[in-house]
Amino acid sequence: MVLAVTPLTPTLGAEIAGADLTDLDDRQFAEIFEAFTEHAVVFFRDQPELTAEQHFAFAERFGQIHVHPFERLSDRNGGGRPGMLGIHTTADSTVAAGNRWHSDVSCDSEPPHASILQLHLIPPVGGDTLFASMYAAYDALSDRMKRMLDGLTARHSGEESYRRLFKVAITEAGAAWPEADHPVVRRHVDSGRPALYVNREFTESINDLPKEEAKALLDFLFHHVERPDFQCRFRWSPNAIAVWDNRAVLHHAMWDYWPNQRKGRRITVKGERPVPWRLDEDRVPQGREGNTVRLTA
Ligand code: SIN
Repeated sequence: MVLAVTPLTPTLGAEIAGADLTDLDDRQFAEIFEAFTEHAVVFFRDQPELTAEQHFAFAERFGQIHVHPFERLSDRNGGGRPGMLGIHTTADSTVAAGNRWHSDVSCDSEPPHASILQLHLIPPVGGDTLFASMYAAYDALSDRMKRMLDGLTARHSGEESYRRLFKVAITEAGAAWPEADHPVVRRHVDSGRPALYVNREFTESINDLPKEEAKALLDFLFHHVERPDFQCRFRWSPNAIAVWDNRAVLHHAMWDYWPNQRKGRRITVKGERPVPWRLDEDRVPQGREGNTVRLTA
């Protein structure tokens, strides 16, 4: 079967038609991976509701399964094979997963690569997921700001989100919620492109700067990465599947559908320790430049 890849915006996102994700051959998966690397988030409609095994099998084509800190450290695990995260918001929910701009589990020392979400139950209207290209966000910065960020690292922590927001308690003796230092600008190991790597959910501070400067810089970066110029928005249909690249995009799940329900399952795939992008050493490979969003002053 021939796959049809239709971009959502010139900057990021594409819908892929003509694939049955329960029955892919290697050539089809290679095309999907190519589109995923180019567009940073890809969407599939008209899929069957995947069984847990089918969902794991598709995810494993991208790499090894990542196990969420909820499952590693707390009693919040759904039972069954580790690596499956239930997403379920009801009229009684006090918090909805992903309802702030973030890159999944960026507080891990080796944060996830791909996330694969299928929604089985969607509200009559609303519950869209927004994605923002961190390639475009970096490319749109001034040369002076790029120089300023060169070589900086930031501290990412899961404490605020997991303990305070989601109220999950650690049950493993002596364990703590993950935290890690990552480059503020990372080099994507597949595309070779530079991407900003900070997000409001997990990034706490910038290392090697006085506290006030770090806070002002982070405030600027949080607003910058969330600009609509860098975004696409996916309107779900039942059993649609989104596959996003946490190394290249942030995402935000809109919780605008209360008291309706929204339900599905997500599996993430292990990534590598983020590699810094260095201005004087790294170059984007030819043909991989992507679209640059022009911001007016
Ligand atoms: C998430 O993985 O952060 C949730 C995304 C969504 O529910 O749309």
